[in-house]
Amino acid sequence: MVRIPVTLGQKKCDILIGRDAWQQLDKYAERYDRVVVITDRNVGRLYGGRIAFPKIVTEPGETSKSWASAEKVIQEMLALGLTRSSAVIALGGGVVGDLAGFCAAIYMRGIPYIQVPTTLLAQIDSAIGGKTAIDLPAGKNLVGAFHQPEVVLINPEVLQTLSRADLVSGLGEVVKYAVMAAPELLDILRAGGEMIFTAPHESLSQIIVRCCTIKAEIVSADEWDQGLRKQLNAGHTIGHALETATSFRAFTHGEAVLFGLAAEARLSYRLGLLDRQQLAEIEGACQLIGLPVVPSDLSLAEVKQALLRDKKNRADRISFMLPRAMGQLEEVLLSIDEVERHLEAVLYPGKV
Ligand code: GLY
Repeated sequence: MVRIPVTLGQKKCDILIGRDAWQQLDKYAERYDRVVVITDRNVGRLYGGRIAFPKIVTEPGETSKSWASAEKVIQEMLALGLTRSSAVIALGGGVVGDLAGFCAAIYMRGIPYIQVPTTLLAQIDSAIGGKTAIDLPAGKNLVGAFHQPEVVLINPEVLQTLSRADLVSGLGEVVKYAVMAAPELLDILRAGGEMIFTAPHESLSQIIVRCCTIKAEIVSADEWDQGLRKQLNAGHTIGHALETATSFRAFTHGEAVLFGLAAEARLSYRLGLLDRQQLAEIEGACQLIGLPVVPSDLSLAEVKQALLRDKKNRADRISFMLPRAMGQLEEVLLSIDEVERHLEAVLYPGKV
C-alpha cells in the first residue's frame, strides 16, 4: 500500500492507495461513537455491502449537490443519532464526496469524515484537499467549506466497474495535471492505450499515485487556495462556465475541464502569452482523450453570465490560470469585455 501524507498545520491527512486500502476503515471507525456511510444508489448497490455501517443513500448525479439534498442528508444524520463524536464516510465519486463533506462540515458545526473515492476523478482530485460544496443554479460550488477528511482510502480495483464516460471524465483531470506540472503523465496515457478502459485498475495505478503526490504537495503548501493551489484551477474557469451554462447536462466535469484546458490555451495564445508550438502541444494533449463537442445551441450570453459569477473572480475581473508553456501556469485577471472579445474564437476555433 502507498501512503502519501498531506500536512495541514497541526493536522495530517494520509492518502492510502492500494487494493487493501479499504481494510483500514475499521481501524479509523473505532475512533468514533457512530459512523454512517453516505453514498449514492449506484455505488451503494455495487460496494455498500463491503462496508458494514448504516447508509444514507442519495440519487446519483450532479443535481444531488443541492440545498435540498444536503438538508435531506442532514435530517437522516440526525435520525441516525450522529453526535459531535461521530463520523461520516463519503463512499462514491466527486458528487458524493462534495455533498457528504459539506454535510459533515456544517452538521453540529462540523464532524469528521473519511473519503472513500470510487471514481478516477475523485481518487486523483476531488477527494483530496478538503474542498466541499454544493451548487446553486447560478453556478458550481458556490456554497461550501474547506473541511479536511481524516483519511483518504483509495482502492484502484473499484475503477473496473466505471463506465467509459466516467473514466474519460477522470482522464480530463489527469491531462490537467500533465499540463500543469507533469507532462510525463501523457506518455503513461499513450502507453496505456485501450488498456486504460479495459483494465483501468492496472493501467492507472501509477497515474493515481503521481497525481495524488502532486495534489498532496500543493495542498500541504497552500491549503486555503491563496497561491500555489490556484494551479489546480487550470481549465476550470471555462470548464465550470460551460457546465453551468448547460445546466450540468451536456458535459461530465472532466470533459468540461478538458475542453476548458484547450479553450484557455487558445485564450492564452490570443493574448500573446503562449506560442503556437506550445498551443499545439496542449491542444494535442487534450485531444489524446478526445475533446467533447460544444452543443451548437450553447448560449454565449449564459457562458458570460456564468463567468461573471465564478467564485474565483476578484472585483469585476475573471480569474484564469493560463498556460505560458507546458508545465507553466500564470493567473491572469481579465474584464468581461476582454473575455468577450475572444470567447467565441476560443470556444469554436474552427468557426471563427
Ligand atoms: N480541485 C481543485 C482543488 O482542490 O483545489
